[in-house]
Amino acid sequence: MSHQDLIEDLPLNFIAIASSENTKVAAMVNREKKIYGIQFHPEVTHTPLGKKVFENFLYKICQCKPGWNLKSFIEQSVKEIKEKVGKDIVVAGVSGGIDSLVAAVLTHKAIGHQLYCIFINNGLLRKGEAEEVQKRFKENFKIDLIYVDASERFLKRLKGVSDPEKKRMVVGEEFIRIFEEKAKDIGKVEYLLQGTLYPDVIESISLEGPSSKIKSHHNVGGLPEEMKLKVLEPLKYLFKDEVRKIAKKLKLPEEVIWRQPFPGPGLSIRVIGVVDKEKLDILREADEIIMQEIKKNNLYKKVWQSFGILLPIKTVGVMGDIRTYDFVLVLRIVNSSDGMTADWAKISDKILGEISNRIINEVKGINRVVYDISSKPPATIEWE
Ligand code: XMP
Repeated sequence: MSHQDLIEDLPLNFIAIASSENTKVAAMVNREKKIYGIQFHPEVTHTPLGKKVFENFLYKICQCKPGWNLKSFIEQSVKEIKEKVGKDIVVAGVSGGIDSLVAAVLTHKAIGHQLYCIFINNGLLRKGEAEEVQKRFKENFKIDLIYVDASERFLKRLKGVSDPEKKRMVVGEEFIRIFEEKAKDIGKVEYLLQGTLYPDVIESISLEGPSSKIKSHHNVGGLPEEMKLKVLEPLKYLFKDEVRKIAKKLKLPEEVIWRQPFPGPGLSIRVIGVVDKEKLDILREADEIIMQEIKKNNLYKKVWQSFGILLPIKTVGVMGDIRTYDFVLVLRIVNSSDGMTADWAKISDKILGEISNRIINEVKGINRVVYDISSKPPATIEWE
């Protein structure tokens, strides 16, 4: 059935229909029995009429009342956390990102000192990030932070692992093991707090058929099965833009609110194939240059993510009179509103050229930079 047929078959009070390339929309109407149904892909909500379709369906047909707002979300989730946790102890993994921080601040509001925040340096962080996160925590929050440097431990576990899902599983598992060890020091811990968002949940769900699991985000599907802690996920029905609004309401610092998303398994999924310290260091240097240039050109807040990916491929180049044989770096810059869909960003030649020149000249081990011009779908934002 085409979109046109759908419009003509709909009843009068069902007045909008979304349309976009490759969008799948299905509607079902039985006016006599008053049965209405609509099903579509999440990206439809990003088309001009997609939101309208949802509103019509919910408010006019189902007669729902829009009672959800950010203020009520904060109050509601604080109440829910309080009720659920009671007198139990919660450990939170904080990463410096907005999701884990909002989750921690909400939980702290609910249960105060029953919350212990742990920041694990897994050796897969960006340059200077471990120091920055600790400093930021100290300066802005009244929540104590336990810092654990476990870089070597993670690298050991990742040795020889090249499959992306296996990397996620290894990193997720190691995180949990460390939390469990720390929990023992703290006392009787019942819960692990996670900043899981709705897109992580959707993309980690395994359905049979064409929409089977896309990636098991390590804070959802990548957890070991026999985990001893119960999981607390107060943000799991939210999208990133909503979390940013909540962060503003909670008065979190601007640099946290606008920090670009960074995956839990960190740089391990941006070093394609087998991960080792040498490759991570090369990628860290390139990533730092990308970040500096993106910030310098006022693009940091405008784009969804901007980062490098190190390929396990060496190509020939020439530096002065010398032949080089070094790695290729992929520059990935995308626009998106929630990570579910994304467009490759149209960045000026001048900026792309500067980033490329600086990386090739300044980072030992890279002699070629390429720009990724794939959108999601059908590609994904990360390469693994
Ligand atoms: P993809 O690559 O699935 O990424 O298009 C969508 C968004 O999710 C982030 N991402 C992850 N975040 N654990 C995370 O916490 C993961 O395993 C993971 N994989 C992807 C990605 O950076 C993008 O923002």
